Amino acid sequence: MPINCEPLKELIRTVPDFPKPGILFYDITTLLKDKNGFAQLIDAFAQYYIGKEVDLVLGIEARGFIFGPALAYRLNAGFVPVRKPKKLPAPVARVNYDLEYGTDALEIHLDAIKPGQRVIVVDDLLATGGTMQATVQLVRQLGGEIAGLGFAIELDFLKGRSKLQEYDVFSLLHYDE
Ligand code: PRP
Ligand code: MG
Repeated sequence: MPINCEPLKELIRTVPDFPKPGILFYDITTLLKDKNGFAQLIDAFAQYYIGKEVDLVLGIEARGFIFGPALAYRLNAGFVPVRKPKKLPAPVARVNYDLEYGTDALEIHLDAIKPGQRVIVVDDLLATGGTMQATVQLVRQLGGEIAGLGFAIELDFLKGRSKLQEYDVFSLLHYDE
């Protein structure tokens, strides 16, 4: 039976006007420190992806690093960090992207994915979709096959999913405002 994640919403703190006026911030730190809540969240991700032949889990800096390694361990897959610029030591591929609150860039080691490897990418939040769209570009550039895109939280009203239509987008929790 699929795990019902809806009760986890009670563990997520909402902070109005962060990081700027008018933004309602969904703070997952209150969920992460709850041992049952965190376990349930990783279990729900694992339940969805087990059996999908995943070679690598990619996590997007910074908050994707919270879930990615735990999920990779559960799926018996490797973990690859997608990092903010100038953090990775070996040769990288780089992509620039628009964020909900500005612009940024992401990098991945050129040898992080072998062509044809099956990859899922996880992040804490799907907002406008710019961050994940950029990461998808990096995966494709390296010849990886995208087996899925996973989020803890999806802000449905921002319609980020529309940028990722080609892929299997899976979010544990949805918010309409
Ligand atoms: C946040 C969040 C997602 C992204 C979602 O990252 O963790 O990665 O924004 O926004 P989007 O769908 O509009 O692209 P951010 O870079 O702000 O902060 P972080 O380094 O704490 O993850
Ligand atoms: Mg982030």
